[in-house]
Amino acid sequence: MEKLVSSWSINVQSLPENYVLPPGQRPGKLIVPPCKSLPVVDLGKATSPDRAETIQKILEASWEFGFFQVINHGVSDNLINESRSIFSEFFNMPAEDKASLYSTDIDKSCILYTSNLNYDIEEVHLWRDNLRHPCHPSEEYVQFWPEKPTKYREIVGAFSVEVRKLSLKILDLISEGLGLEQGYFGGELSKRQLLSVNHYPRCPDPSLTLGLPKHIDPCLIAVLLQGDVDGLQVYKDGQWLGVEPLPYAFVINIGHQLQVISNGKLRGAEHRVVTNPREARTTPTTFINPSPDCVIQPAEALVNASNPPLYKAFKFIDFFKNFTAANGDPETALNPYKLQA
Ligand code: OGA
Ligand code: NI
Repeated sequence: MEKLVSSWSINVQSLPENYVLPPGQRPGKLIVPPCKSLPVVDLGKATSPDRAETIQKILEASWEFGFFQVINHGVSDNLINESRSIFSEFFNMPAEDKASLYSTDIDKSCILYTSNLNYDIEEVHLWRDNLRHPCHPSEEYVQFWPEKPTKYREIVGAFSVEVRKLSLKILDLISEGLGLEQGYFGGELSKRQLLSVNHYPRCPDPSLTLGLPKHIDPCLIAVLLQGDVDGLQVYKDGQWLGVEPLPYAFVINIGHQLQVISNGKLRGAEHRVVTNPREARTTPTTFINPSPDCVIQPAEALVNASNPPLYKAFKFIDFFKNFTAANGDPETALNPYKLQA
């Protein structure tokens, strides 16, 4: 429990040695160019006459960057403010209030851990704590969520419902854009919803450590609230670019599963998180995931003689195990399923 960075780092003046990455893995220079061309999609325009153009923007961004931001998304500013406050409040609670949730057992229904699930065997740790629990359907899982702060369950329950609606809306636009049948992503493919809240405390030396190393999200899509503190970077054309924080926007991130289902028409972006020397950053991320036994493969409608499948079929759970064992390394995770084109 005392392992949580949020529990011991408050007055720490220098970065402990077991957080200093080997030279080749350090972020080095902290100021990276902002990714000015990362599209901001206005979901208020997802109806006619602008629907086709909005879909086009989403597909182009998902191909070129694997990322885009959305505004006018239907989640109220008020709910966003309340949710952000409750997550910060959670991580700022005294260590004894968080102790009962500490676990690296991924099969438990609510866990709080630090760095990675591999904490006990890794040499260098990441500067982050993570709280994660499933949230759909909430009646099934709410009993496992944190009891403190007292309004956590109520606020996070409302937030999860709204984020789910938003996620399904985006998946509908993507399926329409890809030419898949209506509701393609609606069933087993998007059945699971995992809330993963990252907390990166203020860090004494962000040039030597990372909040999250380079990875692609293992999900279908990820829906992230970056808030107003920057830290998220995307790897594009050989360089790291900053994803500009737009306080009430959600960052949408194409995951490995959508890359496979779209047969490479959309791609998962490599991204990482750097820490901040002045303030803590708390980012709730919702992963929309297939159910564990769901078979993932390129959609039939997207495969033909001139577009042969790029990936072989796998069960989501098997992929996920690989991903976790590879510590999220993007190449290692997807490689076993790649076919020669
Ligand atoms: C993630 C992730 C980004 C962030 O949780 O997979 O990339 O800004 N998070 O916390
Ligand atoms: Ni990620």
